[in-house]
Amino acid sequence: MSEELIDLDIRLARTLPSRFYTDTEQFQRMMSVFSGWQFAAHTSELDTHSIHPLEHIEAINGESLVLVRNEETICFSNVCTHRGMRLAHESCSKKNLQCRYHGRTFTLDGTFKHMPEFEQAIDFPSQSDNLKHFPLKQWMGLYFTAQEKAQDIPWEMLEERLGFLKAEAFTHDVRRDRDHSVKANWMLYVDNYLEGFHIPFVHPELNQALDYSGYVTETFDGGVLQIGKAIEGDVKFDLPLGHPDQGQDIAAYYLWLFPNMMFNFYPWGLSLNVVIPVSPTQCRILYRGYVNDPALASKGAGSILDIVEDQDQWVIEDVQKGMASKAYDRGRYSPTREQGVHHFHRMLSSFNWE
Ligand code: FES
Ligand SMILES: [Fe+2]
Repeated sequence: MSEELIDLDIRLARTLPSRFYTDTEQFQRMMSVFSGWQFAAHTSELDTHSIHPLEHIEAINGESLVLVRNEETICFSNVCTHRGMRLAHESCSKKNLQCRYHGRTFTLDGTFKHMPEFEQAIDFPSQSDNLKHFPLKQWMGLYFTAQEKAQDIPWEMLEERLGFLKAEAFTHDVRRDRDHSVKANWMLYVDNYLEGFHIPFVHPELNQALDYSGYVTETFDGGVLQIGKAIEGDVKFDLPLGHPDQGQDIAAYYLWLFPNMMFNFYPWGLSLNVVIPVSPTQCRILYRGYVNDPALASKGAGSILDIVEDQDQWVIEDVQKGMASKAYDRGRYSPTREQGVHHFHRMLSSFNWE
């Protein structure tokens, strides 16, 4: 895809052509954007079980991985090196990994340990009988894993902004988890997330909780940060001295990391959305809730998440129908309200598809 497809100047640029949201071949070609950093788990999810298969990553990019907390936390292939059976099927805390097919066992660092009926095999075991390791990054208690070519994310810059939240101390609350199926292309979900422009039209309840005039969108290499300001007297972050946003009433930090991860920080904790592409016209949205202060969960912009989600899904599914129209191909961006969507489309257009 040529970079000029989306003009650098938002005042001139036109949006992605509608075929990007409908065409099967285009959908397949774009799957390579999912080989970079992907959210794996929050550290609290490893407190109960030390072995954690990453089913959502397998659904996103086809790679079956397992996250293991032993002396340190590592990520390796979840595919048996004998004939390819997947090893862990649910979270557990076993002392080693044993394949259910023919009994091959591995230690918790992914090293081959034992295999019945292989005494006569020559040059066995070898390095290729161990489980392949994958890169793992921990940021504010959130683990990310990647295939070989992971794009860099400015982790330190983001930590300077969000580190005060102490997200590593949050705890996973399964009652907040959701798994929604949406009849729309995964990029429509992201497009919608990356602008607050629609809030007054689509989200009347959220519009009451946020000061729309103060809504801020900041773009950076690898993502977008949106900042929702609280209306007077509503729940807001207690920012420490010297914080870049000190003096402002902030109700929510909405962090998006390319291409499909959304970290919504509220005073009560973190609501995470991971978008899973299914087909050109279908995606799944996984929700995970990580709680800091449950007493704040019923207040402010972070208290009406299910209502807002229903409203967003209704709009996105409608737009997907619009993408099939022969009368519509491309639109324009609001230079003051759609910088995030423009940035996403620029990132997509500059991605090396090969
Ligand atoms: S596939 Fe795992 S032991 Fe055979
Ligand atoms: Fe929305």
